[in-house]
Amino acid sequence: FNVTWDAEAAEKEGYEHFMIKEIHEQPKGVSETLLRRLDKEEKVTLDGIKLTKEDLDNINKVYIVACGTAYHAGLVGRYAIEKFAKIPVEVDVASEFRYRDPFVDDKTLFIAISQSGETLDTLAALREAKRKGARVLSVVNVVGSSVARESDDVFYTWAGPEIAVASTKAYTTQLVAMYLVALHMASVKGTITEEQYKEKVNELKTMPDKIQKILDNQTKIQHLADGQFNNEKVFFMGRGLDVHVAHEGSLKLKEISYINSFAIAAGELKHGTIALIEDGTLVVALATQDHLYDKMLSNIQEVRARGAFVVGVAKEGNKEIEKTADVVLYIPDTLDQLTPILSVIPLQLLSYYIAVARGCDVDKPKNLAKSVTVE
Ligand code: G6P
Repeated sequence: FNVTWDAEAAEKEGYEHFMIKEIHEQPKGVSETLLRRLDKEEKVTLDGIKLTKEDLDNINKVYIVACGTAYHAGLVGRYAIEKFAKIPVEVDVASEFRYRDPFVDDKTLFIAISQSGETLDTLAALREAKRKGARVLSVVNVVGSSVARESDDVFYTWAGPEIAVASTKAYTTQLVAMYLVALHMASVKGTITEEQYKEKVNELKTMPDKIQKILDNQTKIQHLADGQFNNEKVFFMGRGLDVHVAHEGSLKLKEISYINSFAIAAGELKHGTIALIEDGTLVVALATQDHLYDKMLSNIQEVRARGAFVVGVAKEGNKEIEKTADVVLYIPDTLDQLTPILSVIPLQLLSYYIAVARGCDVDKPKNLAKSVTVE
């Protein structure tokens, strides 16, 4: 009588891969990250993180530096900090930042974002920023990691251990962290009204349920993946905040399915990429931003006219897009400023199911490592 006990299968808790398990853990991770930073009065509390009025008055610039998916969270972070706290922000990939002698001094707040806290380039960039006198705040998932240890302050995300190489739950919790940092800064600096502040915090609190709603309706995405997995090139496009999500969606797809995919700002279509659109090219068009919706609809028409198969991503209720896109994936309605937390979910699912349909080793894609500790 032989009992074989598969530790890995047990850890997957019935899911076929860690990636899909982690995608489904996002409502929990987002909720943990959020609730641990809200006090009884629903104010953002960055306990232990020094960002007082005095500290913020001394800061004239924020630098956000990271790699890969964390860099994409940084791009959304820039938007939130500039929009809410009115401080100029630069974002850079760590491998570029560290070699270009950036303008950093003791009036700079340097924010490093890293799931593992061990990415060598991010760590080196952090050391460089410190050497130049910057205050360092890091947004990290792994407690006690190198980035965390070397930072002045740490905002821990509560995604829990992330095993799949392609990052999912770490990304959404990093987004929440960046929104909370931005809202805290805005409230301390007085650049946001009490009402606006409450509106955003209350909306953030609805995110776990809204993510869950997308997960509960994933069959449509699975069908879509089954029909589209043979594509050898895919484009993601969007405007405003959607561009950053387009980049993350594209990265997810290429990481695990090896499809040649890239992302562009839709306004740049005519400056090159449209030349590559042909019959059947898959284009994923994000159109969640109200003030840019009409512009996106015309971009969708442009690629459709060249034969593209368009998958639109829009907020529930914005049905106009059905007239131009071939398929529309809806996300629950939310504030335009917070859509990335939701719009990335259908893209994660689409990448996952396409990779599964192609028979790829989803959790351990070739040539990639979970944590890049070499240059
Ligand atoms: C690797 C991983 C990515 C991750 C990036 C940055 O490329 O495969 O998923 O986004 O490193 O990692 P970090 O741990 O610093 O967030």
